[in-house]
Amino acid sequence: MVTRTSIGALGMAGLLAASGVIALSGTADAASTLGSAAAGKGRYFGAAVAANHLGEAPYVSTLDTEFTSATPENEMKWDAVERTRNSFTFGAADQIVSHAQSKGMKVRGHTLVWHSQLPSWVGTLGTADLRTAMNNHITKVMQHYKGKIHSWDVVNEAFQDGNSGARRSSPFQDKLGNGFIEEAFRTARAADPAAKLCYNDYNTDGVNAKSNAVYNMVRDFKARGVPIDCVGFQSHFNSASPVPGDYQANLQRFADLGVDVQITELDIEGSGTAQANSYSNVVRACLAVSRCTGITVWGVTDKYSWRASGTPLLFDGNYNKKPAYTAVLTALGGTSSGGGGGTAACTVSYSKQEEWSDRFNGKVTVTAGGSAIGNWTTTVTVTSPQKISATWNGTPTWDSSGNVMTMKPNGNGSLAAGASTSFGFTVMKNGSNAAPVLGSCTAS
Ligand code: XIL
Repeated sequence: MVTRTSIGALGMAGLLAASGVIALSGTADAASTLGSAAAGKGRYFGAAVAANHLGEAPYVSTLDTEFTSATPENEMKWDAVERTRNSFTFGAADQIVSHAQSKGMKVRGHTLVWHSQLPSWVGTLGTADLRTAMNNHITKVMQHYKGKIHSWDVVNEAFQDGNSGARRSSPFQDKLGNGFIEEAFRTARAADPAAKLCYNDYNTDGVNAKSNAVYNMVRDFKARGVPIDCVGFQSHFNSASPVPGDYQANLQRFADLGVDVQITELDIEGSGTAQANSYSNVVRACLAVSRCTGITVWGVTDKYSWRASGTPLLFDGNYNKKPAYTAVLTALGGTSSGGGGGTAACTVSYSKQEEWSDRFNGKVTVTAGGSAIGNWTTTVTVTSPQKISATWNGTPTWDSSGNVMTMKPNGNGSLAAGASTSFGFTVMKNGSNAAPVLGSCTAS
C-alpha cells in the first residue's frame, strides 16, 4: 500500500525527471548550437583547436558551447610529438585531448605521416631506417592515444597538385615508394584497431585529376583489403578556389567506394552573404551524402585562423557569430538564438547531366532557405575556352568575357521555404572538362 507521503515523493521525483527530460530534449536548446544541430543529423561538428588558446575564456566557451569534436591544429604533428628520434612529447596534444574529453567532445587525430612539419632528421635516414622510424612513429603516437581518437589522418597530402595524378615528393615517397601509404595504414590498424583510418588531402574537393588519383588509390585499397575507413576533404576555399559545383558528387563517389567521408579543415575566405552561401552549400552537400559523418572547421575564430586576413571562419575576432555561422546552423536544421543575421535565403547546387564528346549539360538547383523568397539570382562561371551554348528554364545575362552567366528566373521567381527550382545549360567543352563554378545565390 502506498501512503500519501510516498505518493507525494514519487510525484516530485517524477516531476523532476520530467523537467530534466524537457530540458535535455527541448528543441530550442537542442538545435541552437552547431554541435547539437549536427547531432540531430547524426553528425559531429568540430573545430581545429590550438592548445595555447585554451587559457582564453571566450575561446574556450565558444569551443565548448558550439563544437562536438576537436582536431589539434598542430600539436599532434610529427615535429610536435617526435622532434627528436624516439623521444615523444605529448604535453600540448594531451591538453587538447583532456579538455575535449572533459566536455564530451570527440577528437580527430591529425596527422601521422605528412611531408610538412616534419623534423629534418627524418629526411636524413636511409630506406630501411626510415621505414622503421615511420612505423615506430605511427605505433607510438597511436598507442598513446588509443581509444581516445575517433578518426586518424594516417597519411596527409601525399598527392601532387595539377594534372599529373602523381604522388608528391617526400622522404617517404622518395625512399619507400608508393607502398609507403599502404604500409602506414596497415601499421595504424594494428596500433589502434578501433580508430577510423583516413587519407586526408586538399584540392581533392571536386572531381579533378588529383581527386581521381586519390579515388583510384582508395578503390585499389578496398579491392585488396588494405585497411582504410575514411577520406578527409580539407575544403580550404577562397575566390581562386571556390566550392566546386560537383563537391557533393565527389563526396558521394568516394562514399560509394565503401568509406566514410569527412570534411576535415573547412574554411572559406570572404564575408557576408557570399561566404554564408558557400558554407551553406558545403553543409548541405555533407548532409546529402549519408556517409559524410562530420564537418570540422579549421579554427574557432577568424583572429587565430591560419588565413586570418581572409576571415574564413564562423566567428569573428570578437567571437561574434557571423552570417556564415547562421547559414551553417540553418543548413544543419538548427534555429538561431540571435546574433549573426544575414542568413542565406537561397542556396544553389550543381549536377552534371548528359555528356557528349564535345559538350555536356549542367543543371543548377536553387533552393529557398528557411523563409519563402520572392525572387532569386545566381551566377555560373565556365572555364575558358568553354562556352555556354544554350540555356533553359531561366533568363541569362552575360559578362563581357562571356564566361560568367547571371541567371534569373523566367517570370515569377517565388519559392516557398525550402522549395526548389532548377535551370539547365549546355557547356561546349572546347577541350576542357572543368566543372562550372557556382556563385552565391541571392534572394529577395
Ligand atoms: C596549418 C596550421 O593551421 C598552421 O597553424 C600551421 O602553421 C601550418 O599548418 N593542411 C593541413 C593542416 O593538413 O595541418 C594545415 O594546418 C593546413 C593545411
